[in-house]
Amino acid sequence: MTPEVATRATVGGVTALTVRDATADDLPAVAAIYTHYVVRTTMTFNTQVRTPREWMERFEMEIREGPYHLLVAELDGVVRGYVESQRFRPKPAYARSLELSIYVDPEATGTGAGGALYGELFRRLEGTTYHRAYSIIALPNDDSLRFHERWGFVHRGTLTEAGYKFGRYLDVAYYERAL
Ligand SMILES: CC(C)(COP(=O)(O)OP(=O)(O)OC[C@H]1O[C@@H](n2cnc3c(N)ncnc32)[C@H](O)[C@@H]1OP(=O)(O)O)[C@@H](O)C(=O)NCCC(=O)NCCS
Repeated sequence: MTPEVATRATVGGVTALTVRDATADDLPAVAAIYTHYVVRTTMTFNTQVRTPREWMERFEMEIREGPYHLLVAELDGVVRGYVESQRFRPKPAYARSLELSIYVDPEATGTGAGGALYGELFRRLEGTTYHRAYSIIALPNDDSLRFHERWGFVHRGTLTEAGYKFGRYLDVAYYERAL
């Protein structure tokens, strides 16, 4: 695996942005970012945090040697965001479709970390057999809708009130990108 794959130039000597493959040592930082969104927001339909053991098992079984991805973005040497790919649906004919999940530390959104993560992931997916990427966006989330549209995702439909979290029903939008 390439240890370090995308670096944005230092801006005014202040912020260095790097994207690389996650290692097992990154999992606590990745888990902390996701836990925030699970516990405090409706941006993910998960209501229970993924345990350290679950993160490690997924890493060992599906990430370290593939076929899926977990990339982290570091700002000034601190992990501030990640993107992971997974199988879109279990049935065999979906094998060339990926579901993506991308989360940036709430204190680091809008700093280019998300864009750097998608840029690197899509570079890696070029020329592979993966054919479609999906992002399933719980609504409302205008920042994420704009972000995904800018990265070439197309809205393919919205399910109404498909989720229920924090005492209310939630819509979910399906976004698709050709790979
Ligand atoms: C959606 C998300 C992954 C995008 O990552 P990001 O690092 O914020 O994205 P970037 O900084 O690369 O790009 C965001 C764009 O919106 C702008 N922006 C400004 N303020 C912003 C903010 N508070 N949040 C998000 N984007 C903001 C940025 O300037 C940038 O525009 P540009 O590319 O035209 O310059 C991130 O905001 C996030 O984790 N949001 C919360 C969780 C979430 O919604 N995850 C996706 C679930 S489907």
